[in-house]
Amino acid sequence: MLDINKIRAEYPILDLEMNGRKLVYFDTAATSQTPKCVVDKITEMYTTKKANVHRGVHELSQQATEEMENTREKVRKFINAKSTKEIIFTRGTTEAINLVASSLGEKSCHGDEIILTVMEHHSNIVPWQLIQQRKRIQLRVVPMNEKGEVREDVYEDLFTENTRLVALSHVSNVMGTINPIKKMIEIAHKHGIPVLVDGAQSTPHIKIDVQNLDADFFAFSAHKMYGPTGVGVLYGKEKFLESMTPYQGGGEMIGTVSFEKTTFAELPFKFEAGTPDFVGIAAFGTAIDYINELGIDNIAQHEHELLEYATAEMLKIPNMRIFGTSENKSGVISFLVGNIHHYDLGMLLDKMGIAVRTGHHCAQPLMNAFGIEGTVRVSFGIYNTFEEIDRFIVALKKAVDMLS
Ligand code: ALA
Repeated sequence: MLDINKIRAEYPILDLEMNGRKLVYFDTAATSQTPKCVVDKITEMYTTKKANVHRGVHELSQQATEEMENTREKVRKFINAKSTKEIIFTRGTTEAINLVASSLGEKSCHGDEIILTVMEHHSNIVPWQLIQQRKRIQLRVVPMNEKGEVREDVYEDLFTENTRLVALSHVSNVMGTINPIKKMIEIAHKHGIPVLVDGAQSTPHIKIDVQNLDADFFAFSAHKMYGPTGVGVLYGKEKFLESMTPYQGGGEMIGTVSFEKTTFAELPFKFEAGTPDFVGIAAFGTAIDYINELGIDNIAQHEHELLEYATAEMLKIPNMRIFGTSENKSGVISFLVGNIHHYDLGMLLDKMGIAVRTGHHCAQPLMNAFGIEGTVRVSFGIYNTFEEIDRFIVALKKAVDMLS
């Protein structure tokens, strides 16, 4: 059993007041809060280990490099990758997906097809559309059922001789649906097609084993995992990364440079042009330690209990519509009440100290599939409590009364 009060003491931000009320932070799917140990690591890096990585012969630079490379090893272990060569640091999930889209896109031809799902975040749609504009590739979209689950029956029919890649989210940022990615990867591989998984919403909540999943690419962000902003990871199987062209050029990603010819560095450095956010990366290592200490399964269980309790309480409110009702869900609930506008509800909740996200959640195609403009979304982290859900329900009923 986790001691949530002890956990909360690590997050001074949770003691803040918003609009005169104690903050209830229900927006962890957008970004998680950061425990003191991670903030302390950032301070330690700036005060005792700030020197550019991989460049200096001097001791300070070597210490900074060691911090960064230690995190690479922690990430490798965290997702069970075979080698640290397969762990590329990026600015976030979005940049990781853009890296793959840009590199693979170079090689794509007119008529090539990429399979996505209807519940993708814009960051797993627009990078492919940018390639589409240049190379006239086709996007094929897996629809969902009324519970917000991918239509596995339709999925397999979308493969053709022109399919080049499947790119899908592990967990929907809007509905919390946990997609059956192992099975979907297996089907793609049966057709000889690689799969990119957007793991932004799954890595903070679900044990990831990229070898067991047999994912070809897996992208995620530190800031959703109790880590700092501005750091993400692209995992890629070595065989794919080896054959891909660099995404950006600059220092650190080269072997030798002359005006006639430049050679590129070995993996993973080939994809890490410029000075990385080594301070953030070191702090990400601390966030991974933090998750490991709590235990990802304990985190998942606590969030699942919050999800079940909140869902049951919310469904007692008349005209409540929850979008995404799969049995396999992470701690995310998107909803509307009657005809009340999501923005109005969100504003009133904020006035009562409850931070939720409103709008299309960077998933407009999914909103279109539901025939709505947006929802209110609550999402949970390890620090949330049942008492906070009670406060949220009282506030929600009040807001609904005011707006009805
Ligand atoms: N992708 C983040 C969210 O769903 C920002 O809120």
